[in-house]
Amino acid sequence: MKVLVTGAGGFIGEALVAQLLAEGLGGQPLTQLTGLDLRPPACADPRWRGVSGNIADPAVLSEALREPPEVVFHLASLPGGAAEAQPLLGRQINLDATVALLEALHRPEAPPRVVYASSVAVYGERLPERVDDHTPTAPGLSYGAHKLMGEILLADAVRRGGLQGCSLRLPGVVARPGEGAGLMSAFMSQLFWRLRDGEAIELPVRIEGSAWWISVQRCARNLRAAAEADLGPADPLGSRRVALMPALWLSMQAVVDALARRFGPERAALVSCRPQEKVDRLFAQYPPLATPLAEALGLRHDGSADGLVRAVLGESP
Ligand SMILES: NC(=O)c1ccc[n+]([C@@H]2O[C@H](COP(=O)([O-])OP(=O)(O)OC[C@H]3O[C@@H](n4cnc5c(N)ncnc54)[C@H](O)[C@@H]3O)[C@@H](O)[C@H]2O)c1
Repeated sequence: MKVLVTGAGGFIGEALVAQLLAEGLGGQPLTQLTGLDLRPPACADPRWRGVSGNIADPAVLSEALREPPEVVFHLASLPGGAAEAQPLLGRQINLDATVALLEALHRPEAPPRVVYASSVAVYGERLPERVDDHTPTAPGLSYGAHKLMGEILLADAVRRGGLQGCSLRLPGVVARPGEGAGLMSAFMSQLFWRLRDGEAIELPVRIEGSAWWISVQRCARNLRAAAEADLGPADPLGSRRVALMPALWLSMQAVVDALARRFGPERAALVSCRPQEKVDRLFAQYPPLATPLAEALGLRHDGSADGLVRAVLGESP
C-alpha cells in the first residue's frame, strides 16, 4: 500500500509516520510512505520517500503524487497565529494547497482515501454548554475558516465520487516537545515536560479551567483508524464527512494531579497560575464534548488523565 503524509515533519506527522512504518495500515504493510514537508524527517527505512518543499508549489505537489497514493493524511498547515499574521501565506497553505491536493487526487476509477486534519477551531470562541458533531461552526480565525472550507471541499469531492475519506476535528494534542515556538497553547504541553523534569511552571490560565486533551500517540492512532474504517454509503459520517475526534475533558488541576501521581506529590507545588484573560478564554473554558460519530468509527481518547500521562510518556499504546 502506498501512503502520503503531508506535514510529515510536524508534531503529529512524525508520530504518524513512525506508527505507519512500524504497524502498517488496516493489517497491510506499507510498500511506500511518501512524506511531504518543508523539512521532511530523515528516515533510513527503504519504504520512505521524503519530498522536501512547499505544498503550495505545483511542482512539489506533483512530485509528492508521482507514485499515486492509495491513502493520504493531509496534515500540512500554517498554525492559526502565523496564518493570522500572514493572511496571504495562510490562505495559500491552508486553503489553496488543500484545493489543489484534493483536485489532483480525484480518481473516480480507484478513489484514494483521504483523512484531513481539521480542527476544533472551526467552532470559534463561543462554545455552547456541550459540543458535539452537530454544533454550529463559527470560526474566529482565518485558520479555522480555511479548515472548515477544507472539510466542505473534501465532502464535495467524496460526493462527486473521486475520493473517499473524512475530516477529523482535532482537539489540543500534547505534549509537543520544546517551547512551542510562540504557540499560545504551548503551556498545555510544557506542563508535562516541566513536571517530569521537576521544574516550575506558571500557567496563563485558571487551575480549574478545562480543556480537551489527547496524546499525540492516540491522535495518530485515530488518524489511522479513520483511514482503516469501513467508509461506505451507509457509514455514520453521512454527506458531511466530518467527525469530532474524541478527547478527554479535563481541568488543569486534573492533569496536574495525574502528573503528581506519576512523578511524586511534591511536583504539584511546582505549578502556579497567572491567568491571562485571552489565553484562558481560548484554551481553558471548554465545555464537555460528545463524539459519537468518531467512536462509531473506532476512534478513542486516552481513557483517563493517568492514561493521558502514560501515553504522552510513551508508556502505553
Ligand atoms: N497539534 C494540535 O493540537 C492540533 C489541533 C488541531 C488541529 N491540528 C492540525 O493537525 C495538523 C498537524 O498538526 P501539528 O501539530 O503536527 O502541526 P505542526 O505545525 O507541528 O506540523 C505541520 C507541518 O506542516 C509543515 N508545513 C507547513 N507549511 C508547509 C508548506 N507550505 N508545505 C509543506 N509543509 C508545510 C510544517 O513544516 C510542519 O512540519 C495541522 O493541519 C493542524 O492544523 C493540530
